[in-house]
Amino acid sequence: MTRTRAAATSTQKAASIREERLARDGRRRRPRRASDNPLREGLRLERVPDPHTMVLFGATGDLSHRKVFPALAQLWRTNLLPAEWHLVAVGRRPYDDESFRAEVGTALDRNSRVALEPEVARQFLERISYHRGDFDEVAAYDSLVERIAAHGREHDGVANVLFYLATPPSAFPTIVGQIGRCGLDHEMRGAGWRRVVIEKPFGRDLESAGRLNREVGRVFREAQVYRIDHYLGKETVRNLLVFRFGNGIFEPIWSRQYVDHVQITVAESLGVGERGAFYEETGAVRDVLQNHMLQLLSLVAMEPPAAFAADPLRDEKVKVLRSIAPPPRGRVTRDVVRGQYGPGWVEGVAVPGYRGEPEVDPGSETETYVAGRFEVDNWRWSGVPFYLRHGKRLPKRATEIAIQFREVPHKLFAEADMDPQPNLLAIRIQPDEGIMLRFGSKVPGLGLDIRPVTMDFTYGSSFAADAPDAYETLLLDAMLGDASLFTRADEVEAAWSIVAPILGTWLDAPPPAFPNYEAGGWGPATADALLSRDDRRWRRL
Ligand code: BG6
Repeated sequence: MTRTRAAATSTQKAASIREERLARDGRRRRPRRASDNPLREGLRLERVPDPHTMVLFGATGDLSHRKVFPALAQLWRTNLLPAEWHLVAVGRRPYDDESFRAEVGTALDRNSRVALEPEVARQFLERISYHRGDFDEVAAYDSLVERIAAHGREHDGVANVLFYLATPPSAFPTIVGQIGRCGLDHEMRGAGWRRVVIEKPFGRDLESAGRLNREVGRVFREAQVYRIDHYLGKETVRNLLVFRFGNGIFEPIWSRQYVDHVQITVAESLGVGERGAFYEETGAVRDVLQNHMLQLLSLVAMEPPAAFAADPLRDEKVKVLRSIAPPPRGRVTRDVVRGQYGPGWVEGVAVPGYRGEPEVDPGSETETYVAGRFEVDNWRWSGVPFYLRHGKRLPKRATEIAIQFREVPHKLFAEADMDPQPNLLAIRIQPDEGIMLRFGSKVPGLGLDIRPVTMDFTYGSSFAADAPDAYETLLLDAMLGDASLFTRADEVEAAWSIVAPILGTWLDAPPPAFPNYEAGGWGPATADALLSRDDRRWRRL
């Protein structure tokens, strides 16, 4: 991304200070060596953020322990955090620095992508201090100001601050308001940058998302706000942009002229587990369709941006979202299907139905499955349906985007023994990350038999490298001031506008007889009917 000369100079200065500190710390830079695999050569550009203090609200929570600390520790392990980095963990529970570090140490042992050397873990934990306080406790913020200032004095005037809100969403407005009250948001001359990362869910409907945007906007400028959708940090999702806009041959066929329809699947074999209380308030539409799936759709459907930078990219995504006509309320029942799993078997294990999960109402009407037919009403995509489906307790975990191309216009081989499967491009987001192209091929022999064959790219075999976790990518980007992979205020609201009529209709209409699919099945029969009505069917995964 473009950076100003001043920022570049200060980064260079910071880099040289960092070098000195690294040497002092005993943390050495990763030795640069030619990779064994030529495809990996030069893959990782080392980008190091400015020195800063990170303030993590909700530091004792599950998300921080499972995702945020392990991601930060990986960044530290790979020398991507500045030596002058320090984290203030804010939480309500009564820890002191030592006991909290021990707690984080345990979380790292449990959740690290790559185990940390004990010395590296020690150095990382040393940079964490604990700040006890309730989110609405004014004094806790006043002492936070002091703590941040003290850290700045100790570390060559480091004044950059990254706030990270990993709390329940109900606390977002309070925390942002308090940050504003004590002036911690101010980016005055010489006071360094101030940014805020806000976790999902961002609102629970269009109205509350708009309200939250306004509340955040009273304190921070939009350019300071980083709304997380972790799907955007996934390596395969980022590669969608490269696949589409870093190659010349796909763009010309990426339109209604060649594409018959698109299927996007986010299938999970897990149920709601211990998150019953959260899920009761959320459901599949709010949890995954409104954010992760509409993000995937917009990346598939967007126009090439004018530049690979945050605003041009997000402008194009917003245009897609605005081109999706929300289903009129009268059409919701026809175009969107909801389901809830009953008891069944998943991967050979008997599992309870949703209504039997902990903290779930035995008569719950919350949907654990959603499938819908959407259209992007613009020049490129008019008339091409995008079928989206997501569910819990499906037979397997699989996230995939399938671009189904049209059949050949003239059946030259009408006489041939042919398995008539049109071309298909399947982008596997997870697991088994890769891209597959299906085409017809003549079976060797004297006759004319045609069968589908595939060309397959898998990340594992081509790069033989572990991808970073989405949180590593996103945290690093926020520290670097690159908002490309974060959702903008208008984008979040545009996505809520699409699902608003669905939620509204369902609120008023009684749900179908739930449960309506067995755990371990591919969702309710009505989801199949959604496609068979158009003479199509879901891809078997
Ligand atoms: C989260 C949802 O945002 O995404 C979860 O709250 C869901 O319910 C998860 O399971 C899926 O993410 P991933 O990375 O496991 O595909």
